[in-house]
Amino acid sequence: MDRDTLILGIETSCDETAAAVVRRFSDGRGEIVSNIVRSQIDEHRAFGGVVPELAARAHVIHLDAIIARALDAADTSLADIDAIAATAGPGLIGGVLVGLTTGKALAAGSGKPLIAVNHLEGHALTARLTDGVTFPYLLLLVSGGHSQIVLVKGVGNYERWGGTIDDALGEAFDKAAKLLGLGYPGGPEVERAALGGNGKRFALPRPLLREKRLDFSFSGLKTAMRLAAESVAPVSQADIADLCASFQAAVTDIVATRARQALDRFAETYPDLTPTFVVAGGVAANRAIGTALAQVADAAGANLVIPPPALCTDNGAMIAWAGAERFALGLTDGFDSAARPRWPLDQLQRDPM
Ligand code: KG4
Ligand code: ZN
Repeated sequence: MDRDTLILGIETSCDETAAAVVRRFSDGRGEIVSNIVRSQIDEHRAFGGVVPELAARAHVIHLDAIIARALDAADTSLADIDAIAATAGPGLIGGVLVGLTTGKALAAGSGKPLIAVNHLEGHALTARLTDGVTFPYLLLLVSGGHSQIVLVKGVGNYERWGGTIDDALGEAFDKAAKLLGLGYPGGPEVERAALGGNGKRFALPRPLLREKRLDFSFSGLKTAMRLAAESVAPVSQADIADLCASFQAAVTDIVATRARQALDRFAETYPDLTPTFVVAGGVAANRAIGTALAQVADAAGANLVIPPPALCTDNGAMIAWAGAERFALGLTDGFDSAARPRWPLDQLQRDPM
């Protein structure tokens, strides 16, 4: 695309109602013009996890106002927007339907093109918006809904090298927190509790780690954690700290090992490139995991890129940016685009280049 474009992005696939306006310059750089996120943590806190029906209802109630605020904050209106990008999956289907249908309605009403964005592609391409990263690069996505290792070769061009066979890493943090009576979301609570704890006190398992494949499994760890907690019941504050520290030590070990293996594979695939290793998703905010990944990247001679926390967690800018990258390649979608609960990254329409 030989001109600057302005894209509106809409995200409703989980528990954030979000909209943003992003500019893509003709040279490929990007800029966030506005980025409005309304978290539903208060709606879901009492349940210790996201309740899909409540999430969809909250999106219905708040999305229109969030979009209006995003346009306002960008000092623009639909008339000046080039295309409308909305998450079409994967995610909680009720929420995806709310955002995608709203995107279609706005596109139809304004006569602008629609881009049905894969939420994972939004996470995958964010580092190009924030850090101008070039293809190919390695992505570790660790959030409440996903744990994946992906080779990012181009827009719409992904190789999934590994994923979780049960729980996502963020979900494992949330379940560990719930088990110990800590708050929601669990990741930050476990990290805080672990600070004063002894990570060597409980020998928790590292599932799948002896296998070569780049997959994760966290459900056995969760069970081991429950058994460890039961073995010292009733748990004291010190026990909770040690359990959290032991849990965090186990998952840090798992993630660091997989990252090392993935970087080895990247080096075999692209022997002449300095690897770029991008980490995204809410769990990227964890300092123990971040420190371990920095060491792994350093040892592999890789550039580690972790976008700022607000862009690692779900937001509208990542959807607008993925839309902008697609739009620049002429990839737009019809009003018959389906909302999809599942939509693996390696099934996307490819950059025709
Ligand atoms: O990316 P995200 O905001 O939402 C999606 O799941 O898409 O990720 C939220 C997840 C939650 O499971 C939360 O517990 C986890 O990220 N998380 C953390 C930390 N902050 C958030 N996990 C570990 N340590 C943290 N500091
Ligand atoms: Zn996400």
